[in-house]
Amino acid sequence: MRDYENLQKTSENRNALRNYYIPTGISEYHLLNGEWKFAYFERDIDVPKTIEKWDTIPVPSCWQLYGYENPNYTNLRYPYPVDPPYVPDDNPCGVYEREFEISTKWGKVYFVLEGVSSCAYVFVNNEYVGFTQGSHLQAEFDITNHVKEGLNTITVKVLKWCVGSYMEDQDYFRFNGIFRDCYILQRPNNHIEDIEIIPNDKEINIKLAGEAEVSIYEGEKLLTHAMMTDSFTFAPEHPILWNAEKPFLYKVVIERAEEIINLKAGLRKIEVSDKYELLINGVSVKLHGVNHHDSSKYGGWCMTDEELRKDLELMKELNINCVRTSHYPPTPKFMDMMEEMGFYVVCETDNETHGFTNRFPEIDNRFPGVSNIRYDMNSNEWPGTNPDWKEEHIERMQRMVEYYKNYACVIMWSTGNECGHGPNHIEMTKWTKKRDDTRLIHSENASRKGNIHNADVYSRMYLKLYDLERAAQINDFNMPVFLCEYSHAMGNGPGDIYDYNELFDKYPKLIGGCVWEWSDHVVVEDGVQKYGGDFEGELTHDYNFCCDGMVFADRSFKAGTLEVKAAYQPIKTRYEEGKLSIYNRLDFTNLNEYEFAYWIEVDGEKVNEKKMTLKVNPHEETVIDIPYVKKECQYGVYLNTSLSKGGKIYAITQHELPSKVKPEQEEEKAALKEDDYNIYISGERFVYVFSKHYGRFESMMVDGIEQLDGVMKLSALRAPTDNDGKLAFNWMNDRKKGENLDRAFNKVYECAIVDGEIRVQCALSCVSRSPLFKYSLTIRISKTGTIEFNIDGDIRENAYWLPRLGYEFELPKASNEFIYYGRGPIENYCDMYHWAPVGMYESSAEKEYVSYVFPQEHGNHTKVKMLRIGKLEFSSQSGFEINVSKYTIDTLAKADHTDEIKEDGKIHLRVDYKVSGLGSYSCGPELQEKYRLDEKKIQFNFTIKPY
Ligand code: GAL
Ligand code: MG
Repeated sequence: MRDYENLQKTSENRNALRNYYIPTGISEYHLLNGEWKFAYFERDIDVPKTIEKWDTIPVPSCWQLYGYENPNYTNLRYPYPVDPPYVPDDNPCGVYEREFEISTKWGKVYFVLEGVSSCAYVFVNNEYVGFTQGSHLQAEFDITNHVKEGLNTITVKVLKWCVGSYMEDQDYFRFNGIFRDCYILQRPNNHIEDIEIIPNDKEINIKLAGEAEVSIYEGEKLLTHAMMTDSFTFAPEHPILWNAEKPFLYKVVIERAEEIINLKAGLRKIEVSDKYELLINGVSVKLHGVNHHDSSKYGGWCMTDEELRKDLELMKELNINCVRTSHYPPTPKFMDMMEEMGFYVVCETDNETHGFTNRFPEIDNRFPGVSNIRYDMNSNEWPGTNPDWKEEHIERMQRMVEYYKNYACVIMWSTGNECGHGPNHIEMTKWTKKRDDTRLIHSENASRKGNIHNADVYSRMYLKLYDLERAAQINDFNMPVFLCEYSHAMGNGPGDIYDYNELFDKYPKLIGGCVWEWSDHVVVEDGVQKYGGDFEGELTHDYNFCCDGMVFADRSFKAGTLEVKAAYQPIKTRYEEGKLSIYNRLDFTNLNEYEFAYWIEVDGEKVNEKKMTLKVNPHEETVIDIPYVKKECQYGVYLNTSLSKGGKIYAITQHELPSKVKPEQEEEKAALKEDDYNIYISGERFVYVFSKHYGRFESMMVDGIEQLDGVMKLSALRAPTDNDGKLAFNWMNDRKKGENLDRAFNKVYECAIVDGEIRVQCALSCVSRSPLFKYSLTIRISKTGTIEFNIDGDIRENAYWLPRLGYEFELPKASNEFIYYGRGPIENYCDMYHWAPVGMYESSAEKEYVSYVFPQEHGNHTKVKMLRIGKLEFSSQSGFEINVSKYTIDTLAKADHTDEIKEDGKIHLRVDYKVSGLGSYSCGPELQEKYRLDEKKIQFNFTIKPY
C-alpha cells in the first residue's frame, strides 16, 4: 500500500481544528498567492530529488487549465477503477515551490492551505512538514521549527489521486492543484487557538482556552470591553437579530499578546415549528435557494474574490435567499460574504461516493440482489458502510463544523451528497448533534436511502410535484420537507420552478429548496465553451451534463434565470373587480422599503401609471383600489405591477383585464385566377402565387418586394433542448420508436378553389410512419391582400406528444427586424413566462439568439397576437407562438457546440399553434401533462396581410 492510499493516515502533522480567522495586530499574514515554480510529472515516482527544470504557474489555480493534462468531466463514474482504497499506480504529480520571507522570527509560524486537490505533502527548506487530504477542507501546519529568518522555501507536492478521491466523486470537472488561497501566519507563542461563538438569539457566548481581552461593538459603538478567561457571555439589551434579509452582525474583537482577532457574531435562532415549518427567529421562512459549486468560466474550481462576490450580488438581485454549498464547504471568504450579505447556508461537507452505484456493469441478471440504481447499502464496499472509513467520515464533518461553527448564516450541516447512507453517516450525525445542536442536520441520502429520522429535514432531490405534495400531506414525514435539488436548470429552462414554489407556499411543512445549479461549468478553448468528451484522453465522461446552470458560465442571464427570480419574488398579486391585493412574501422586511408601481397598458401602450410606497408587514397583504372600465382595444388590456429598490426591479406581475376587441371589417374576397399549377391573386399592393401542387404560397410580393425566400411548410420538430434530451428519441429516433419528426413530408391530397376560397386537403407525415396530422386548410384572401389561414385536423390517435406544431416560413435576410405583441422581451414557453409580460416589443433575429453551450431550441414567444416582419403582418385573436431565427431547426439540432452553427442567409420564422413546455427532465421529472402538446383535434387560425 502506498502512503496516500492509507485510510488510517489521511493526514500527518496537520494542526488541531479551529474556527476560521485571519489574525491581525502584531500577527503577520503573508498571502502566498501568485506565481510559483511548478513541475508536472505524469507519475509521482518520476519526481527527482532535485528538480532542475521548473515552469511557473499561478497559485491558486487548477493545473489542467494551464496545459498540464487535459480536463476531464465526469458526473458520477470514477475516472479510475473502483478498487478502494487503491488508486492507479501512475499517479500524476504537480510540485509547487516558492520562497517567502520571515524578516524576524519571533513567534509561531504556520502554513495554511484552504484547498488543494487531491492531497499535499508539505516541505519547508527541504524538510518534510506534513501531509493532508480532503480537497475542500482547510489544512494548517505548524512550520515554526522549519523556518528561519530571511528567505525560506516552501514546497508542496500535490498528487492527482489519493484514497480521499473516493470521497470526492462530485459531478464536476476533475481538477487538481492548489486551487484556493494559501498563506503563512506568524503569531505570538501563546496565541489563542480555537474560538467558539455558536450563535443563538440572545447572547454572544465566547469560548476559548485561557485569557483574552474581548470587545463587542454594535457598528462603531462599543458595547462591552472585558478580560475573559475561558468563556464570556454578553447579552445586548435589545438584541438585533441576524436574518438573510437584514444580516446584522455584532463585531467581536479578541486580543491576546498584542494579537487581534476580528470576528463577527450574528444572533439568531433556528427552530422547527409544530407544523414542521422552518422558523428563523420565530418566523416561518421559505428557502428560495440555489446550489453553488465553485466554478469560474476560465478558472475552473478556482474563483477570485470578485467572482465569488459577484455571484452573491446576482443572487440577491434574483431574490435568492439560500445557498447549498454543493457538495463541499466553500472558501472562508465566500462564507464571510454570505454571512454579511445575508444568505441561509446549507453547508455540506466534502463527501460524495456516487460512483459506487456504477461499479458493476449494467448487465441484466448478472448481479442478483443489486438494484438497478445500485445503492446496495448492505454491502460494506461503500465508504459510508465500511468501518475502515469511519474516522475519515467523522473527520470530514469535524473539519467543516469546527471551521464554520460561528457563522450565523449556516442553518444546516450536511453530511454530503449521494454517498448512500450507512453507519458512518450516522456517526457523522451523532458527532455533529453532540457538538452543535443549534442547527439542523441535512442528509439527502438518509431521506432517500436510509432512515429519514437520521436527519432533521426530509430532504429529496427532483421530486415530482405530485410526490412533493404527498410528502406535505401525509404524516409519515414528521419533519420539514426540503428539496436540496430541484428544477434542473440545464440549457433552455427550467420550466417548472414556478409550480414548485406555488406548492412551497401552500404547505407550511414545505420549507423550499435549491435549484440545481447556479452556473454552467465549462472549459473554454479557442473561444468555444467545451464540456465532457471534448478532450483527448477522457476515459469516461458525461458530455454536457455540467452545463446545467441557471446562469451561463460568464454569469449572464438566460430566460430561466429570470423565471427563478419570478418564482422567488417578494410579492404576489391578485386582481379582482377593481381591487389589487398585494401579498408580502418577505419574512422580515416591510414593503415600504421598496417602491411599488402599477400601470395599465392598452395594446402595449401605457395609459396610466402610479408609483407608491406600500406599508405591508411581512406575510401580510394590502388591497388597493384600481377601478377599471372595460376598454376597447385591438389586442388586449393588462394591469402590470413592479416592485423595485435602488433602481433594480425585484418583482413584476401582470393581470389581463377584460376588454372589447375592435371588430375586424369584413372584406371582399379577391379574385383567384388559376392555371394547371398555381393560383394567382393580386391587388393594389400585392401579388401572391399559391402552388396547388404543394398547397403553399410560392411567392408573396408586397409593394413590389418579395417577402418569401424559400418554402413555407408545416412541421412539428424543435431542436431538442437539454430538458427534452431523454424524450428526443421519441421524436427523432428512427431505429427505435421515434416519430421521425426530423424527416417530415408535407403532403397535398387535393387542392381546389371552392366558393372563392382555396381548399387543401393535406397531411404532415414522417418517414416510415403513417401520417401524423391530417388536416384541411382553407385559405381566404381579401381584395386588400389579407390571407386567412384556417387549419382543422386530427393528430394520429397514438402519436407521441409533440414538441410543437406550426408553420415554418423562410424569409429574406432583410426581414431581420420585427415587432410583435405577445410575451417578451425574453424567450418564453407555456411553463416559463413569469418574467415575460405581454406587451408590444421590437426585436431582431440576431437578438433572439440565445447562446446555450449545447445549441438547442430557443427564442420562442407565447401569447402572440400580432407580428410585423418585413412587409407582412401576422395576427390571430386566439393567439399563436412565434420564433424568429437565423438558424434552421436542423442546424441547431445537429450542432454540439456554438461554433458549429452556421447561418444560411435567411430568416426562419415559426408561426406555431403551440409549443410544448420545457420542464426540467434533463434530471428532474417528466414534463407535466398540462404543458405538453398532446391534443388530437387541432384548430388553428391566423391571418397574414401586407403591412
Ligand atoms: C444530482 C447530484 C448533483 C448533480 C445533479 C445533476 O443527482 O446531486 O450533484 O449531479 O444530479 O446535474
Ligand atoms: Mg452525483
